[in-house]
Amino acid sequence: MTCTIIVGGQWGDEGKGKIVSYLCEKDNPSIIARGGVGPNAGHTVEVGDKKYGIRMVPTGFPNVNAKLAIGAGVLTDPEVLEKELEMLKDFNVAQRIILDSNSGVIELKHREMDKSNVHLSKEIGSTGTGCGPANVDRAMRTLKQAKDVESLQKYLGDVSKEVNTAIENNENVLIEGTQGALLSLFHGSYPYVTSKDTNASSFAADVGVGPTKIDEVIVVFKSYPTRVGEGPFPSEMTEEEAETLGVIEYGTVTGRRRRVGHFDYELAKKVCDLNGATQIALTCLDKYDTECYGMKKYEDLSDKSKEFIKIMEQKLGVKVTLISTGPELSQTIDIRNK
Ligand code: IMO
Ligand code: MG
Repeated sequence: MTCTIIVGGQWGDEGKGKIVSYLCEKDNPSIIARGGVGPNAGHTVEVGDKKYGIRMVPTGFPNVNAKLAIGAGVLTDPEVLEKELEMLKDFNVAQRIILDSNSGVIELKHREMDKSNVHLSKEIGSTGTGCGPANVDRAMRTLKQAKDVESLQKYLGDVSKEVNTAIENNENVLIEGTQGALLSLFHGSYPYVTSKDTNASSFAADVGVGPTKIDEVIVVFKSYPTRVGEGPFPSEMTEEEAETLGVIEYGTVTGRRRRVGHFDYELAKKVCDLNGATQIALTCLDKYDTECYGMKKYEDLSDKSKEFIKIMEQKLGVKVTLISTGPELSQTIDIRNK
């Protein structure tokens, strides 16, 4: 049984949600615990013919047997959480969620400041969800915690204890990181970054697990990386080139058009190092090579795709074990045991 952390390897939106959903279905973890900054994350989860855009609840929610946890390090926006619990009531999420009592609480003033502050909203291009200003208050030790909010009492728990107990009981544990390594406050392209570190060790800290308990770190890379908001993007392509390649994407949280680039091996190597990556999940391979759309077997991939994967493994020194070839969970190549 394993404790696995999922990390975004670029600037967010790598398709972590799809990989987490896949692993939750396949590996049946007893608990899925969310780390990361807060509701600045935005993941689309497809279940059957329905699409759910979520920002607070762990993306593993379709597995109705698992406990869903939000770690102490994560910021919670009670309004966003309540809306999602309502939206996901068919999945019994409200009955399964464990919100750490120490999770920080985003209030209206934080959202307002995030949107009205020119530096944050215009120069950095923040998501306007209040995360940066809330983390300021957290560092000032004036931020409310979940345990201070009446309406959240029914969801409260000790996430660190839950996760460590699951590990002791030899159960599968999945720690879901949000954002991407290159948006890290410490290791990213400061000041064009988010308000916290966004790498594996921080996600472990967010949910209260020590580094010796982590078995696997899966870094998720998108074949064509994207970035929303401002900041350097060394391998960025022109909008025309992105259109020609058919990679036009808009953000889940803000609706902004995403900037698109070519795969950057040098940055990807740095990200593998930052995270101690043990595996790579490669997403959107069908965008890199449309012939691969929907494929489920490695052997069926084109030479172009196989070559791309081979070069990636050589340059990064980490195996590509999961490959996404389309939005559906079944459109996944799983070669973890090869
Ligand atoms: P997921 O989990 C993409 C980016 C914002 C902005 C910068 C700072 O969906 O991959 P913030 O609101 O955090 O102060 O904004 O960070 N950003 C993300 N971009 N995906 C995310 O999360 C992001 N979370 C923050 O666009 O450039
Ligand atoms: Mg997103």
